[in-house]
Amino acid sequence: MDGNGRWAKARGLERVSGHAEGAESVRACLEYAVEKGLKYLSLYAFSEENWNRPTQEVEALMELLMRYIEQELPLMMKHNIRCIALGNRSRLSDSVNAALDSVMAKTAANTGTTLVVFLSYSGKWDILQAVKKAASQLTPQELLSLEPQDFERFLVTADIPDPDLLIRTSGELRISNFLLWQGAYTEFYFTDTLWPDFRKPQFQEALDEYARRDRRYGKVK
Ligand code: FPP
Repeated sequence: MDGNGRWAKARGLERVSGHAEGAESVRACLEYAVEKGLKYLSLYAFSEENWNRPTQEVEALMELLMRYIEQELPLMMKHNIRCIALGNRSRLSDSVNAALDSVMAKTAANTGTTLVVFLSYSGKWDILQAVKKAASQLTPQELLSLEPQDFERFLVTADIPDPDLLIRTSGELRISNFLLWQGAYTEFYFTDTLWPDFRKPQFQEALDEYARRDRRYGKVK
C-alpha cells in the first residue's frame, strides 16, 4: 500500500494524513473484496524495514491500525470477514498485540473473506523463522529430505493459499521483501496510482487485468 507519504506531501499535509487516507482505501478495498466474493485480501501494512522510520510515524501507524481494527469490527462481523495478522509479532507492543488477538478471536468463526494483515513482516524473516522451526522440530534425516510442500507448513502463511495477484501502488516496481517464497507464481500488477487514491474502480481495473493473464506455472499449454 505504497504512496501514502507522497499523497500527503502533494497536498502539503503530514505523512500521517496520507496513512489515514490510506486506511480509507483499505476500507473501500475490503468492502469490494467482500462484494466480489474474494476469499482472501492480504495487506502489507508494515514491513520489518518500516521499523526504521521515525518513531513518531511508527507510533502513528500503530495507533491508526488499532483504531481501524476497533472501528471495523462491527463491519467485519456484518460481512462475515475473518481477520488474521501475520508477521514478527514479538516486535509489536502489548497493546497492538492485544487488539490483534481480540479481533482474530472475535472473527475466527467467520467464513467469508479472510483479511490478512501483514505486520512487522518480511519475506526473508519468514523463510528464516521457518528454517529455524523446521530445524527444531525435524530430525536431520527429515530435514535433508524436505520438499517445498513440507517446508511451506513452517512459514507463517501455512494456513493460507499463495497469492494469485499482487498489486503494488505508487509506481514502485519492486517486491520489497514481501511474500518471497509464496509469490513464486503470483501475478504482479503495478500502477502509478498512490494508495490513498486506490479505491473500487482501481481495484476492479487490477482484477480485470488479472482476468486477462494466462497463468502457465512454467508449463506449456
Ligand atoms: C507505505 O506508504 C505505507 C505504509 C508503510 C503504511 C500502510 C498503512 C496504512 C494504509 C494504514 C492502515 C492499514 C490498515 C491495515 C488499516 P509510504 O509511507 O511508504 O508512502 P511514500 O512512499 O509515498 O512515502
